[in-house]
Amino acid sequence: MAKKESRELTDVLSSSQKKYKPSKEMVQNSNAGDYEAILKKAAKNPLKFWEEAANNLKWFKKWDEVFSDKEKPFFKWFLGAKCNLAYNALDRHIEEGKINKKTAIIWEEESGRTRKFTYQELYTEVNKLANALRGMGVDRGDRIAIYMPNIPEIVFAMLACAKVGAMHSVVYAGFSSKALADRIDDAQAKVLFTADGSFRRGKVVDLKSIADAAVKNAKSIEKVVVVQNNKAKVNFNKKCDVWYHDFVKGQSVYAHCAEMDSEDPAFVLYTSGTTSKPKGVIHVHGGYPVGVLQTMKYVFDIKGDEIFWCTADPGWITGHSYIIYGPLLAGITTLMYEGVPDMPKPDRIWKVVEKYKVNILYTAPTLIRAMMKYGINWPKAHKMESLRLLGSVGEPINPEAWKWFYTYVGKKRCPIMDTWWQTETGMNMITPLPSAPLKAGSACKPFPGIIADVVDKKGKSVPTGKGGFLVIRNQWPSMIRTIFNNPERYIKTYWSEIRGMYFAGDVAAKDKEGYFWIQGRTDDVLKVAGHRIGTAEVESAFVSHKSVVEAAVIGVPDPVKGEVIVAFVILAGKVKPSEELNMEIRKHVRKEIGPVAVIKDIKFIDKLPKTRSGKIMRRVLKAQELGLEVGDTSAMVN
Ligand code: WT7
Repeated sequence: MAKKESRELTDVLSSSQKKYKPSKEMVQNSNAGDYEAILKKAAKNPLKFWEEAANNLKWFKKWDEVFSDKEKPFFKWFLGAKCNLAYNALDRHIEEGKINKKTAIIWEEESGRTRKFTYQELYTEVNKLANALRGMGVDRGDRIAIYMPNIPEIVFAMLACAKVGAMHSVVYAGFSSKALADRIDDAQAKVLFTADGSFRRGKVVDLKSIADAAVKNAKSIEKVVVVQNNKAKVNFNKKCDVWYHDFVKGQSVYAHCAEMDSEDPAFVLYTSGTTSKPKGVIHVHGGYPVGVLQTMKYVFDIKGDEIFWCTADPGWITGHSYIIYGPLLAGITTLMYEGVPDMPKPDRIWKVVEKYKVNILYTAPTLIRAMMKYGINWPKAHKMESLRLLGSVGEPINPEAWKWFYTYVGKKRCPIMDTWWQTETGMNMITPLPSAPLKAGSACKPFPGIIADVVDKKGKSVPTGKGGFLVIRNQWPSMIRTIFNNPERYIKTYWSEIRGMYFAGDVAAKDKEGYFWIQGRTDDVLKVAGHRIGTAEVESAFVSHKSVVEAAVIGVPDPVKGEVIVAFVILAGKVKPSEELNMEIRKHVRKEIGPVAVIKDIKFIDKLPKTRSGKIMRRVLKAQELGLEVGDTSAMVN
């Protein structure tokens, strides 16, 4: 590791050892009970722990075997079982008949519109849509692309897919038409769900025209189902477009769940890796909900009547697992907010918490830091007495933001669950439980049943306080099963870097008490405002501009967004650098990738530092940019 990183690590490990102990009440009332005791219990027999967890769900047919590694690394869980993800998230509750009238979804949008759906109403909506999909021939195993804002219809669409056994592929609405087209194409999706628009910072984002542009290049799409969200005027293609309300008109309010094998894929979710082609991460009907529900119970301490607000977007795994599936599997109320948290004023987020009496607020360090900039008076003016628990996810939370969140939002009453996990893990992996003593900036210890470690290249545990690669030594039910249509890449990315262990791609250290301190990615993956973006994806967007021959991008620290992008660009032969060209290239990249790629700076240069084999040495660019020691450059040719 570079010198700078290890220095930072010692700083973190020595300065943040103050412990925030949970109250007696918190420990006594928590579902998981005493922290060390539950960790010990699960470690003794993880398979038993997961089998008991699986019994919290309903299965059409139970498993013959809990776990198999016969075809490793294609691990299998609950072999022989029959089930359905949507059945467990929804139909099961309706059959049990206890929460039909409970609110499943509260939705509020930036301009103030609100809608609510009870479990019964959600069930009706999902059934109508499932029937409409079946009516047009959608069947098990088909892929359905979803490019929608954070609105109730995205939940209907995801659950309807799961119900009929089709795989949803949700693409974040901040991605460009090209990114959408690439993902549709890789999955060969038949149907695309979208909306006429999405409301954000006082304006309607025209999603439909982005979707239209994508469909032009993605030939597999037969039908585009358009939700009327903003009544915005949109271009309508009579050949393949249909309004959502027309699509479901007259459909029966009952629909059966497809009986799926526990290992059948439930959805694909694309995430960025080290090449420009995103990876389609596969999660399955059986194991995924087992893991997610267990974290709802143990991490978020769900008792049954909570109002849960996860501020992520459904387009990321956080949204899949903790806006939609987690809360519904647990039978509680999920809050969906469409828009930004600081409109019309910086206390909108705290107002929403008070208005709906939110009990659990699960958010990201970047949002906390953005709120910190407005000052403490905004959260101070709100008591937020309903809050019981806070959560953080997406990137390491700096101790300063942790303390601010703890003090001014949680009012020193609410523990913060700093949850480390990934698209690939499906569920929280390294995380405190409410009964754990907390340290500001540490994600605490592995979840019960998970064996995480920090190792060197050979897989040997590194000594306490030393940085190394974060790995998971065992398996868990909600783990990635493969990469869509690319099993070789699945093996290579996760199971080949270090023999016999799941390679997470993060750098971490453990302290004396076994607490994990996550440092960030080891690979060429950026975290811009908590969003995962591959450097290769951004670079290929740069070089697709006619004046650019080569480009390298790096992430540089940003006080609010965590990381932002700086690009080094080599221009074609006779092209001269200029301010106009800079703007033009920025616009081009934004169009290629979408607003998620926040570019701080573009630098025009003549040469890129490379190894003999031609690999760009981004680490050298980064050190230079940040004024640090460049480190070992013996492999560099120029
Ligand atoms: C990467 C995964 C799964 C949630 C959303 C992100 C980073 C995530 C934390 C945390 C430190 C974190 C890691 C990880 N990360 N949570 N609590 N502390 N780092 O999912 O887009 O798949 O990104 O996010 O670098 O590898 P993702």
